Amino acid sequence: MNEIEARIVALRRELEQHNYNYYVLSAPTISDREFDEKMKELEKLEAEHPEFYDADSPTQRVGSDLTKEFRQVAHRYPMLSLGNTYSEEDVRDFYERIERTLGEPFEIVAELKFDGTSISLIYEGGRLVQAVTRGDGVRGDDVTANVRTIRSIPLKLHGDSFPDEVEVRGEILLPWAEFERLNKEREAQEEPLFANPRNAASGTLKQQNPAIVAERKLDAYLYYVLGEDLPSDTHYGNLEAARSWGLKVSDAIKVCKSLSEIFDYINYWDTERKNLPVATDGIVLKVNSIRQQQILGFTAKNPRWAIAYKFQAERERTRLNSVSFQVGRTGAITPVANLEPVLLAGTVVKRASLHNADIIEGLDLHIGDQVFVEKGGEIIPKIVGVDVEARSFMQGEKVRFITKCPECGTPLVRPEGEAAHYCPNEAGCPPQIKGRIEHFTTRRAMNINMGPETVEDLYNAGLIHNIADLYELKAADLMRLERWAEKSARNLLESLRASKDVPFERVLYGLGIRYVGETVAKKLALTFKTIDRLREATLEELTATPDVGERIAASVVKYFSDPRNVEIVERLKNYGLQMEVGEETAALQTEKLKGLSIVISGTFAHHSRDEYKEMIERNGGKNVGSVSKKTSFILAGENMGPSKLEKAAALGVKLMTEDEFLKMLEDA
Ligand code: IVH
Repeated sequence: MNEIEARIVALRRELEQHNYNYYVLSAPTISDREFDEKMKELEKLEAEHPEFYDADSPTQRVGSDLTKEFRQVAHRYPMLSLGNTYSEEDVRDFYERIERTLGEPFEIVAELKFDGTSISLIYEGGRLVQAVTRGDGVRGDDVTANVRTIRSIPLKLHGDSFPDEVEVRGEILLPWAEFERLNKEREAQEEPLFANPRNAASGTLKQQNPAIVAERKLDAYLYYVLGEDLPSDTHYGNLEAARSWGLKVSDAIKVCKSLSEIFDYINYWDTERKNLPVATDGIVLKVNSIRQQQILGFTAKNPRWAIAYKFQAERERTRLNSVSFQVGRTGAITPVANLEPVLLAGTVVKRASLHNADIIEGLDLHIGDQVFVEKGGEIIPKIVGVDVEARSFMQGEKVRFITKCPECGTPLVRPEGEAAHYCPNEAGCPPQIKGRIEHFTTRRAMNINMGPETVEDLYNAGLIHNIADLYELKAADLMRLERWAEKSARNLLESLRASKDVPFERVLYGLGIRYVGETVAKKLALTFKTIDRLREATLEELTATPDVGERIAASVVKYFSDPRNVEIVERLKNYGLQMEVGEETAALQTEKLKGLSIVISGTFAHHSRDEYKEMIERNGGKNVGSVSKKTSFILAGENMGPSKLEKAAALGVKLMTEDEFLKMLEDA
């Protein structure tokens, strides 16, 4: 081994050890900065010396941009779920049944039930070769590329005492702190929020792009070791062994020798779990001896040697003081219950969402009612019922959904088929105005350097009433405001100036036309080329645009039929914002694939899936997700999903290789 190779190997080993200290032991021994420096050194050496490439190097955990459809693989042992119980009595029944069946002493291992998404990891020769989701229990999705980005999962097992082939199962989790960070980010970008860390974890694991997975800092706890050649004849012994191989096994595991020890464990963790960094929803009890597990066996769905005890969702009773109604950027009204503050799951709850008019009606709420609030896996508590018996004869007033906007007094409307009420006064309702300005300034739209507080200040000072007013701001006006100095004023003006170069499709997205998200804005920009042509477009012309349905088309027509919007757009045009598709964007657009519906499947050698998607759209084709009679052809890569293959054969849909596809584009 030469000097460079030796250094690379040493750095890899050292960084893997630090990853382990940090992600598994939660006990880092060097600073983040030192870690980053070492990582940079390794990255540099590896880039200079590709001959020493190793897929298991810590540098490879960042995730590549290659996207890949998941392949379905069969589990070696079916992935069963556990029977659920909710009462101490059920736990006692479980214990006594085992006692009767075995007729000999036994131990129960008590563990936390982690509330994430389950995973099966296969290690061969100590190397992680496959990670599969539960799927239907028999087959799951191969998510190896994504799982390889999770730092607490070792790519190579430590030591040399592991079996040649071993399967380890566990739970992939998004820690609370990450979950909150992610939702904040999604809120800022107006993407739908994840309801709880479990959904966020499984959603992340199914991401097509491992680089996004790597950003999200998933974690994993392992709780089950399977194989022909296990190190111990007890479950506990196998978990200890797994821990020694570098796998993250929870410390909260206890071998219990009696029912009362089990209940102590349950009671302790029912409160203590609130201090954990990850979500848990119960306790799992497992017979410790593998021999005894085999005697007990399985039912069709569950092992007889294990059971889950689910914690009671935290519920409290409190008084409903009032209901207020909030107005969002789109004018949607959200009813919020104001409660007598009550301690629930470790936090003081003062408010709960009531969602919409139907929910309020269904609960038959009255002011002053004693209501039950519950916090399941969700972050926002909800009202699950009313304590009707606690109602006195002096019942409070029935809660009715408002009929007028609480901010501007305009009568509300409820579009047919929708659950929500809206304030239709788009141009005059303050939260809608401020919300639209905020949206316009966001990074994915105009990327103007100002947050919601600035919008609020400028609006309150009477300096801005709409997005066009932003471009009339003067340094002197700004500096008259509290907290504004010359530097911050200059920064804002500079950022406004820079926004004049933002491409048309993002300006269009920034206008905040209802239902026109980023993708639709891009399609509209490419199809109509200029804002003037878009303004004149008819419903028919609009619906002929890819991805634009009647709802979107109607919304665009409605937007431009309002002279106030037309005036704003005209002003923006005069200030110099981009109102035509840029030459580069337009030049890239062809009609070579016009009228074709194309399905992409498998993995590719020359371009990533996303690149092929772009290519199809840029050439006027339509990307579709599933194979149907209408599919023109499938752009088929390696390892195409079996279900797609079957369907293509059944419907007689053509397959095209990537080389054929590229040639076709070139020739056309
Ligand atoms: S053992 C055959 N242990 O709960 C036993 N499961 O319905 C297999 N879970 O699908 C599961 N924490 O996703 C086990 N400490 C733990 C667990 C656990 C969470 C999940 C797992 C499983 C579900 C049971």
